[in-house]
Amino acid sequence: MPKDIKLLVTRRFPADVLARARRDYTCTFNDADDLWNSDELIRRAKGHDAILCSSSNKFPNDVIAELPDTIRMLSTFSVGYEHLDLDACKAHGIAVSNTPDVLSDATADMAMLLVLTASRRAGEAERMMRAGAWTGWAPTQLLGPSLQGKRLGILGMGGIGRALAARARAFGMEIHYYNRSRLASELELGAVYHESAEALLAVSNFFSLNCPMSPEMHHFLNAERIEMLPQGAVVVNTARGGLINDAAMIAALQSGRLFAAGLDVFDGEPNFNPAYRDLDNVFMTPHTGSATVETRNAMGFKALDNLDAFFNGEDPPDRLV
Ligand code: DGY
Repeated sequence: MPKDIKLLVTRRFPADVLARARRDYTCTFNDADDLWNSDELIRRAKGHDAILCSSSNKFPNDVIAELPDTIRMLSTFSVGYEHLDLDACKAHGIAVSNTPDVLSDATADMAMLLVLTASRRAGEAERMMRAGAWTGWAPTQLLGPSLQGKRLGILGMGGIGRALAARARAFGMEIHYYNRSRLASELELGAVYHESAEALLAVSNFFSLNCPMSPEMHHFLNAERIEMLPQGAVVVNTARGGLINDAAMIAALQSGRLFAAGLDVFDGEPNFNPAYRDLDNVFMTPHTGSATVETRNAMGFKALDNLDAFFNGEDPPDRLV
């Protein structure tokens, strides 16, 4: 690996990832793990050949246009890539890669965790215990819906959706899905395919968002589509916050139209609609779907594999443009 390649590393990635980057590239690190704004990203990119970034760093068209001509590649430490304007990258001759597959299991674990915690009211229960408000076992305390025999609708049956299906099957759930294209039967494993997202909503006692974010999917789960869900459904989101219209979601959680929600991602995060904080029937985590030691290392190593391939004159395995 040509050590003279200058790499801007925008976040404090796991230590083993940084050690490998330091070994193979001439790096500029972000030891304080500050979240650089657009101007800072542009300024700091000067003198570098490539950028190792995360989904928290936004590279819209105007930022890409201002990057120095020396930048030849953006390698993102994420499977999602809606923070990067791929057309602009292509137009400016900047290669882009992401880190698919390695985070499917961890993110599916988190989706299953949210299915369980939202339906079994784990947030409420934990708050009660910490407040010293538990007065003893009671026959109707903190009841929620069982998972067994319930339909789990999965929107987006890629690696994460399929890994969630495997987990949910073990809990006795019936798997339904919508995907841009129907899966082969060896991947479907008995899951019921629906011709549209709306048809999927209509049968989903539990509904999990596992699709990529795109302009067309902005606020997909709005008031109209929430109304298509069965009464008392549970919604979980480990994909992107922008897939949900928060005002509609909050209204449905307040009215009891939805039983509960489990949310790991938020529109405008790290800021999010404060009304969620007042809802007992929402279980929230801070975008930690992929947050296992092994997964975050694997993401970093994959991001570096892509850079290595590019600067060795090969096609990066996870090249997007
Ligand atoms: C991803 O990989 O897209 C995760 O959401 C972290 O950004």
